[in-house]
Amino acid sequence: MDTVKKINEILVSLFNSVLKMEEKALQNSTNLNLSITEIHTLEAIGTGKPKTMTQVAGALKISVGTLTVAINKLVKKGYVERSRVSEDRRIVKIRLTDTGRAAVEEHEAFHDSMVREAIADLTEEEALRFVQSIDNINQFFQMQEFRPMKGSEHLRLEPLKMGELTIPVPIFQGGMGIGISMSGLAGAVAAQGGVGVISAAQPGFNEPDFDKNPVEANTRALKRNIKEALAIAAKGETPGAVGVNIMVAAQHYEDYVNAAIDAGAQIIISGAGLPTSLPAIEKTKNVKLVPIVSSARAAGLIIKNWSKKYNRVPDAVIFEGPLAGGHLGFKEEQLELAEEAFYKTIREIKHELSDLPNCPLIVAGGIFNRNDALKAISHGADGVQMGTRFVTTEECDAPMAFKQAYLNCGKEDVTIIKSPVGMPGRAMKNSFSHRVGEEGQREAIARCNNCIVPCNPSTAPYCITSALVRAARGDVENGLVFCGANAWKCDKIETVEDIFKEFKAGS
Ligand SMILES: Cc1cc2nc3c(=O)[nH]c(=O)nc-3n(C[C@H](O)[C@H](O)[C@H](O)COP(=O)(O)O)c2cc1C
Repeated sequence: MDTVKKINEILVSLFNSVLKMEEKALQNSTNLNLSITEIHTLEAIGTGKPKTMTQVAGALKISVGTLTVAINKLVKKGYVERSRVSEDRRIVKIRLTDTGRAAVEEHEAFHDSMVREAIADLTEEEALRFVQSIDNINQFFQMQEFRPMKGSEHLRLEPLKMGELTIPVPIFQGGMGIGISMSGLAGAVAAQGGVGVISAAQPGFNEPDFDKNPVEANTRALKRNIKEALAIAAKGETPGAVGVNIMVAAQHYEDYVNAAIDAGAQIIISGAGLPTSLPAIEKTKNVKLVPIVSSARAAGLIIKNWSKKYNRVPDAVIFEGPLAGGHLGFKEEQLELAEEAFYKTIREIKHELSDLPNCPLIVAGGIFNRNDALKAISHGADGVQMGTRFVTTEECDAPMAFKQAYLNCGKEDVTIIKSPVGMPGRAMKNSFSHRVGEEGQREAIARCNNCIVPCNPSTAPYCITSALVRAARGDVENGLVFCGANAWKCDKIETVEDIFKEFKAGS
């Protein structure tokens, strides 16, 4: 018998058997007067805090109307009760009664003993392998909720909806500091219909008063760059949007968020830590907020935290994988495993977002060509973010020596380096990486401009601002040259329009 047929038979039979066992267990129970659908509704309400009808209907993937009919019956039977929220009497929440809780506990105990009996004859190793295989199959089915079954030849780069904001081409250009993605690159990307992102990492490094008044110089340069980028974007046929990337770890985080919004930034993107209190900043009400995460757990935490504290959810989520350039959201020893799990993590995060309408998932890290983008899309991404590929464009704000370093580099020239931010970073091998990396030398810090919260200048291996500024001024031997794992693939200087044409081909 062929494997496909056998697996199909097993899956169908397994599904029917579990349903029959559940039905039998419910019929045999002297305490419970519930159908299978009803017990699953009770499970969706859960034994925790009261939930709104919309939350439960979303979890069950049914309409609020259908749920209302079911809840009316469960209230009559004594399993569920309704209550009004004291702060807003218009909102009704539902929760389990003690009888409802007991029913869920009894049903969970049934599931527990069913699974224990089913795997009783497996060794620990066999059980582990079984979990891995069945989890992969489960992930596939979960994916079908948001992905029509289609081969990659039918995949397209579709416009993104972020609330009322439409991004015609689902490409974000990653924020790149210091001085790599400023108004030139961000404006050109937005003009092509994507999201151009200015980096708020020390944007004032070339202002005459940067050393004396870094915050003032940064704020001024940030605002100027946003306005310039918006003006460039407006010249495009179907422009996308201009965003700003502000690291959670940045000192004066809130001031930079406010300055960016005042200057007209349409999207605030925040990573290098979880932006848990970003929506607390009053002005963010009028812009789109996009956290950068490196796992489904982090995405779930942000969603839960923002909805509970601020009644708000992200307008998109960026998943930045382990092949990205710059600071990475993984410990060095996790990088290999994270690389293997890249597509699985995309599916997991997409699942985490499945209850949020209009919250696209943008995938970053190692996306270099259209095929990379389509592969990410086939696993659940709605769009992609690229950093490295945009560095060798005419419009990129980096000096030519920086772009040339990308063109010259081979696969073996990309390395991982420790950063005072407290995360590993991916960068190009050069004299600087050799000195502070392999040789473990410490670069004395003459002046500190207090750029990031976690840095302690008396113990930091080097000053990250000085090292990045050297690179941004063209000293690519003694500066820190951030780059993605695919930097070696850059082989020509191209225009932003060339890249967009390539990605849009066939869409
Ligand atoms: C030169 C360079 C500088 C970067 N600087 C930042 C930064 O300041 N803040 C940030 O969140 N990400 C930064 N990144 C990450 C990018 O925004 C992007 O998400 C990542 O590079 C995507 O991977 P890719 O380079 O393989 O396309 C940087 C990346 C590069 C290559």
